[in-house]
Amino acid sequence: MNFLDFAKQVAKEAGKMINSYSSDSIAIESKGSIRDVVTKVDRASEQLIKHRISEKFPNHQILGEEESFENKDVHTRILNQINTIPFLWIVDPIDGTNNFVQNIPGFVVSIALICKGVLTVGVIYDPVRNEMFCAKKDHGTFMNDKKIETSTTSQLEHSVVGTSFSSDFHIREKTVESLSTIISRCRTARILGSAALNLAYVAIGRLTAFWHYELDAWDIAAGILIIRESGGVVTTLDGREHKIFNKDILASNKYIQKQLLKELNLTK
Ligand code: IPD
Ligand code: CA
Ligand code: CA
Repeated sequence: MNFLDFAKQVAKEAGKMINSYSSDSIAIESKGSIRDVVTKVDRASEQLIKHRISEKFPNHQILGEEESFENKDVHTRILNQINTIPFLWIVDPIDGTNNFVQNIPGFVVSIALICKGVLTVGVIYDPVRNEMFCAKKDHGTFMNDKKIETSTTSQLEHSVVGTSFSSDFHIREKTVESLSTIISRCRTARILGSAALNLAYVAIGRLTAFWHYELDAWDIAAGILIIRESGGVVTTLDGREHKIFNKDILASNKYIQKQLLKELNLTK
């Protein structure tokens, strides 16, 4: 089985496991701040994914969100060495935990494989809608086996854009400021509550663009490849090519990026 099929299979298994829990009975724990939440289901999903990767590929390295939270040194070390690690899996076991615990659809499993710094495979699986977004480098992006592309919208006034609220209060203020500028220029905006889901939706053209301040590699790794392989572009918010460790992100179809960069930089 190739890496992409393996990642799809594992994401689906984790999604099935997440769906088997009823969010009503899940205790919410906080990670550092009361706005940053985690549950036993996040941990169980991460354990399952890591277990599957380790049994199949014992020499591969794994960067999972929940373990990285417990051990910040591992996170820093891995990101510093990313260009030399032959096989690195980056895992967000549930992206959109706040949706999951509120019983609101819009949470996904996100898994990426990076080989010596090169994004090679990315999968984002929405277990509620049974939608599997996936990409392999230079082979395009697919949703449930159908090839997908970003939208062709080239005017901001026809665009439907997305952003999301970080758990950090100061970053939320920046987001609100940028949103208040963009909302008066675009058709409408959506706050779906999962960065990875937003990126998948840009890839399939449901959203024209997505921006966010201060995300981590697990939120965006799979989504970056999924967008690039669907014809979209991903940059930092000052217009540089996005590297996996850059925290600010603007992703869109290739027609709207420049206009959005201009608008967003007016609000910085
Ligand atoms: C969060 C989501 C959210 C984004 C936050 C992330 P989590 O991830 O992607 O949309 O705004 O910054 O932390 O905590 O649900 O995995
Ligand atoms: Ca996340
Ligand atoms: Ca998460």
